[in-house]
Amino acid sequence: MTGRSPDAPLRIALLGLGTVAREVARALTERVNELRLVTGGRELQLVVLGVRDPGRSRGLELPPDLRLTDDLADVAGSPDADVVVELLGGLDPAEGLLRHALESGHGVITANKALLARRGLRLEALARSRELPLRFEAAVGGGIPILGPLASDLAANRWSSVRAILNGTTNYILSAMADQGQPYADVLADAQARGYAEADPAGDVEGRDAADKLAILTRFAFGSWIDVDAIPRAPDGLDGPGRPGISGVTGGDLARAREAGLMIRLLAQASRVDGELRVSVVPTAVATGGGFGRTDGVENRIELRGEPIGRVAFSGPGAGGGATSSAVLGDLIAIARGAGSSWAGLPPAIPARLVADAGRLDGSGPTLRTDTTRYPVLEEQPL
Ligand SMILES: NC(=O)c1ccc[n+]([C@@H]2O[C@H](COP(=O)([O-])OP(=O)(O)OC[C@H]3O[C@@H](n4cnc5c(N)ncnc54)[C@H](OP(=O)(O)O)[C@@H]3O)[C@@H](O)[C@H]2O)c1
Repeated sequence: MTGRSPDAPLRIALLGLGTVAREVARALTERVNELRLVTGGRELQLVVLGVRDPGRSRGLELPPDLRLTDDLADVAGSPDADVVVELLGGLDPAEGLLRHALESGHGVITANKALLARRGLRLEALARSRELPLRFEAAVGGGIPILGPLASDLAANRWSSVRAILNGTTNYILSAMADQGQPYADVLADAQARGYAEADPAGDVEGRDAADKLAILTRFAFGSWIDVDAIPRAPDGLDGPGRPGISGVTGGDLARAREAGLMIRLLAQASRVDGELRVSVVPTAVATGGGFGRTDGVENRIELRGEPIGRVAFSGPGAGGGATSSAVLGDLIAIARGAGSSWAGLPPAIPARLVADAGRLDGSGPTLRTDTTRYPVLEEQPL
């Protein structure tokens, strides 16, 4: 990223051409002049694309002079590019490619929450040591802007809790089960047929995807990269831990909750109590008329409590190629304008003492009410 005029085009290397990358590539080829208006005149120029099979048609018209290759390392280290956008997903080869990009002097943008949740600490250290931007707004909440506001407009706040619905697939399944009275397995099969759930839905329904996003939110709200695998995803039962995520939620659970004016949601929570971080991703009963109860289908919602702001909430489309491309393009525009990493001026991450429990019974979190539901109940004022 060094030695180029600030007015020269920002040359982009793109890794992957799947759901999100296709929408990014489409905008970069079809909206060149429009995007130039918001970068202060700088062109966002797609120069090289790394894909598994360059010969395969993707239902997208790409510029004839665009270089396509299956050599992803060559793309990540390309001397023709200023910034590398990784939209492959997964830990490997994504991490190696991002490290190679940073070591080659490139800024990096990614939507890869699984990678950031597990390797965020060392990727942040590398980007800081190289003084290169590493941005990942799309990794949490899809199209919802949350990391940028936490690192900038809201940076004066001292956060006490983060509560969020972070996975659209599980929220869709719980909404459909409650509305249609269908069992979990039938709704999951329907969600897979409609493309809302993946063929292997375990990462979503067992809460791992929401835990990954919670780990990233925790870094921004509380300053620490935590061990994502230590986040509990199985609700406490009277006879031991239940099944992870929403995989043990039954139609009977939803019906009993509804009678009490409650909905079950997969709630990701992190709170700071006496200097300790308490985290969890478990099914939680929320008021039907509250912010989380009204978050239906594939929407996401993120609420934070802190001083001096009080309570603040963000909601919107948490997934989908178009919505997620909005966040990736926002990161490209930020880099074209000369902005740094997603953490902006926040200090480097510090170690945290993690208590693997979101404070279910600590007075600041939900309380357990076994008379109406076997899940914790979130006592909240509607926002
Ligand atoms: N989809 C969403 O709504 C969403 C929302 C937020 C964040 N994200 C994140 O965005 C990233 C991309 O997600 P997506 O939904 O766009 O995924 P996707 O549709 O599965 O696309 C992934 C792309 O990467 C390519 N790819 C993967 N591994 C590769 C390898 N080893 N070598 C070459 N090509 C490889 C795939 O190529 P082939 O087509 O040849 O397999 C495909 O083009 C992920 O990190 C995801 O977590 C997605």
